[in-house]
Order: sequence, then C-alpha cells, then structure tokens
Amino acid sequence: MHAERIEGKWIADFVEVFQLCKVKPGEVAAILSETQSRPLLADLAELALTQLGLEVFHVRLPSPRIQEAVPLRSTGTSLAIKGLEPVIQALSNSQFIVDCTVEGLLHSVERNALLSKGARIMMISNEHPEILERVKPSVETHRKSMIGGQLITAASTMRVTSEAGTDLTVDLSNVQGRGSAGIADQPGSFGYWPAGLCICYPSNGSVNGTIVLDRGDLNLTFKRYLESPVIFHFENDFITHIEGNGLDAELIRSYYANWQEREAYAISHVGWGMAKGARWDSMIMYDKRDTNGTEQRAFAGNFLFSTGANPAAGRFTSCHFDYPMRNCTISLDGNVVVEKGVLQGELA
Ligand SMILES: [Fe+2]
Repeated sequence: MHAERIEGKWIADFVEVFQLCKVKPGEVAAILSETQSRPLLADLAELALTQLGLEVFHVRLPSPRIQEAVPLRSTGTSLAIKGLEPVIQALSNSQFIVDCTVEGLLHSVERNALLSKGARIMMISNEHPEILERVKPSVETHRKSMIGGQLITAASTMRVTSEAGTDLTVDLSNVQGRGSAGIADQPGSFGYWPAGLCICYPSNGSVNGTIVLDRGDLNLTFKRYLESPVIFHFENDFITHIEGNGLDAELIRSYYANWQEREAYAISHVGWGMAKGARWDSMIMYDKRDTNGTEQRAFAGNFLFSTGANPAAGRFTSCHFDYPMRNCTISLDGNVVVEKGVLQGELA
C-alpha cells in the first residue's frame, strides 16, 4: 500500500489511545515485538510513550519456526515468547505492555502470567497504521460493549438466524460473556486495537444447528470475502459436515483437513461486533499484508463465530477460523440484540 514510514498523525493516534489506557509519566512500559513484526508499529508505540513521559524498553524476539504444514493466520495466539521466564519477568514487572507481536497475546499461554502483577496489555493488531487511524477505540463503544457482555452472562440461550438459512442455538447456561472495545485502563486488563466485540466461549456440548456463510461474509484466516455459500452443520459443538460446491468450501475443507484432531472442527467463540467506525467493506481496499482483518471482526452488528480452541470447553488446537457474518439476527432469551445485522436497543 502506502509507504511504511512514521507520520506525525499516527504518533498522535497512538498517544490518544495510550491516554485512554491511562498511562502516566514515570510508568515503565515494555514494547514486545518479534523479527517478523511490522517495525513501524513498535516505533510508533515508542515515540508515543516517550512523548507521554514513560520509561520505555523493547523486547524483540525471533519469530518462531512454524509448526504446521499450513500457514497459521489471525489466531490471536502468539507463540513468540515460548514460555521463556526471563521474558515473562521483564514484561510482567512493567506497568504497561504494548504487544506488537504478529499474532498477538490475546490467547497466548503466557497471557495470565504477564497480567499477574497488574501490568496492563495493549495489543496492536498487525495492521497498516492507516487501519488503526480509521478505527480507534472509543469510550462509548467500550461502555456499550461491556453491557453486551453482561447480557450474554445473564442469558440462558442465544439464537442466531438469517434469511440465508442460518439457524443456530447456543446454550449459555453458566457462560461468562465479555465485552471489550480495546481499552486497557485497569491493572491486569487486556485491550486491543481495533476492537469492539461482545463474545463468549460456549461450554461443552452447547452449540447446535446450521450456519450458512453467505456471499460477502468473511473468512479471516484466508482474509477473503466469500463468493459462494458454505454450510456448516453443528452437533454438540462439532461441525459434522461442510457443504458447498464453490471454491470457498473447497479451500475451507482443505485447510481443516491439515488437522487430524476433532477439536479443529469445534466451536471456539460466538458473539457480535460493536465498533461503529469499523467497516464490513474496507478489507477489499487493502493488500493482505496490510491487514489482519481485526476491523472486520468488530464491525457493528456482525455475527462473529469461530472454530478452534475453546478454553471454557477444555479444547485446544492450533486451527482457528474467524467468520464475521452480515445480515444475521441474534437473540438472547428471545430478546433481539442484533436484527438483520443492525444493533438494537441499548447496544445501538
Ligand atoms: Fe477468533
């Protein structure tokens, strides 16, 4: 896309977002990156934090060797730290950690250890900064996202339908909902940019029905808009078969087939997007190397579901797909929170 250079406007954007995270002069901030990170993001973080009067240091790790026959993308699970205790110590003893790893620390095994002493983590998605500039966290989206998370926690059933044929039921008994719009302002909190989601990890055996991915829905592992329908049949969390004659279905079946374990085919998280500034259609404007698709995870009113690891159900696998969908209706115990892709009531 455009040149990857430092722009004053992007330093100002990073300053603004770090101020939302309530960084203070004199705090110690660590910037974590790896050799395959986008160097511009780590530089912008450093310039913004020093401008704000923090004491800053960098931790830069070699990007790890890939473990699978297929490339892993958009997993939110950085493998870069490899459990190294000196790295965990250096980071967790800081007050603020800026995560510029390629995949991000969101689902990494080290996440809890890094947060355990009160450090807050701000994960910067691996995007060209123009995307970050367009989709900044907002306090209002943060507030509404937390309400949505509470609605999920309070509900006992989620139902998702669409004119394309989706009809999915999720038993939400004892499920913890979460809402976040990417602001890490409390000790031990985790934020990410871009953001704006209400999600949960369904518990074991709670997801049944059919999902019809329609033309224009997204497969963010492939960073691709679907051009032909793909139909997933779920029984007690697991995809039993994948229908579809188009290239999309063929590529999806082929990618899943890399994994022998059944967990690859199980539900990971379900929820919906909350970010008003995020757009469904903007990914068409960027080369794949310029986007991680995080904006499309968050666009307001999407239904976002994924397959792969689900800690609440005790399932682990490195296969992960995120599928944001348009035009779905989502209800919680019969109360519609998203109608045909539009946020309703107090979430709107
Ligand atoms: Fe995901």
